Amino acid sequence: MKRIAFLTSGGDSPGMNAAIRSILRSAASRGIETWGVFRGYEGLLAGDMIRLGWRDAGGIVHHGGTVLKTARCPAFREKAAQERAAALLREKEIDALIVIGGDGSMAGAAALEALGTATATVPATIDNDMCGTEETIGYDTAVNTVLEAVARIRDTAASHDRAAVVEVMGRHAGHIALAAGLAGGAEFTLVPEVPFSKETIAAALTDMQKEGRTNSIIICAEGAADGQALARWLRDATGIDVCATILGYIQRGGAPTARDALLGAVLGAAAVDGLAEGRRGFLAGFRNSRTHIISYEEAFRETREFYQAGYDLAMRIGAGRSVHP
Ligand code: ADP
Ligand code: F6P
Repeated sequence: MKRIAFLTSGGDSPGMNAAIRSILRSAASRGIETWGVFRGYEGLLAGDMIRLGWRDAGGIVHHGGTVLKTARCPAFREKAAQERAAALLREKEIDALIVIGGDGSMAGAAALEALGTATATVPATIDNDMCGTEETIGYDTAVNTVLEAVARIRDTAASHDRAAVVEVMGRHAGHIALAAGLAGGAEFTLVPEVPFSKETIAAALTDMQKEGRTNSIIICAEGAADGQALARWLRDATGIDVCATILGYIQRGGAPTARDALLGAVLGAAAVDGLAEGRRGFLAGFRNSRTHIISYEEAFRETREFYQAGYDLAMRIGAGRSVHP
């Protein structure tokens, strides 16, 4: 293993730079040359890569985003593009590629692996929706960003006797919403994994108002409902003042928490060490407080279990009511 390239792909997430730093320095400590590819698979197809070393890892660990930039590249779903990328890596005598990204990026890495390019994936997405790892880099920071926003929104909702719908990211998963709902003390937490009825929410808000609970936080995963539309419907249905905040891209930025910077460090190193020790076609995952190597096949075979007990608790100690249809 003489030369490794690496890239960041898909939605960026806080902690990606910590993974980059760890890859650069773990490889250097093994005498492995490293090449950084800009803008994910798009940059790979364009051959947009530069030699990077120990010193280039300086001063980046505490910054959100990715110094290599990232991109989504629909073209890379085509086999012809994957073959071009594999050929380009061979031409540049790259022995392996490390992909830092989410499940889509890992699918791209698996496609390259199937074409004979040795790859490893470091799980990095705020969605925390990847199989093969308990946690993804960026998730903890995103949840803490949501908590800060919810605390501010709760202040003003309490001052105005308002219910506040807060829409959070997560694509098709509700992990960010559930963690923020539980930790932030939301009255309602709506996730795509569990059906809910807006009529039941309306009835609960009306009852709660009669009991003097005049402000509520309704955390709504983007995959569960459109936050603005839900707020509008609840306002019309109950006559209660309901406001909506779509948190959007602030959840993707900011300095990584200690947790995400730590995950970046240990998972970046695990990817380099696995490749150097002859492994390939694997996800450098995190499980039981340790890094672990899992093949793409095993990772893709796993199903990501939803934390149903956590959801039930969030409703039990939030509004104290179910919102099931
Ligand atoms: P994330 O990696 O954060 O889940 P995406 O799902 O957008 O983000 O995937 C990032 C990129 O990975 C895509 O833009 C595409 O270039 C590549 N990709 C995604 N799915 C596949 C696939 N099934 N086969 C090959 N490449 C894929
Ligand atoms: O996958 C991370 C994520 O932030 C999702 O939670 C969100 O739905 C999506 O990316 C937004 O994608 P984009 O940055 O391409 O608009």
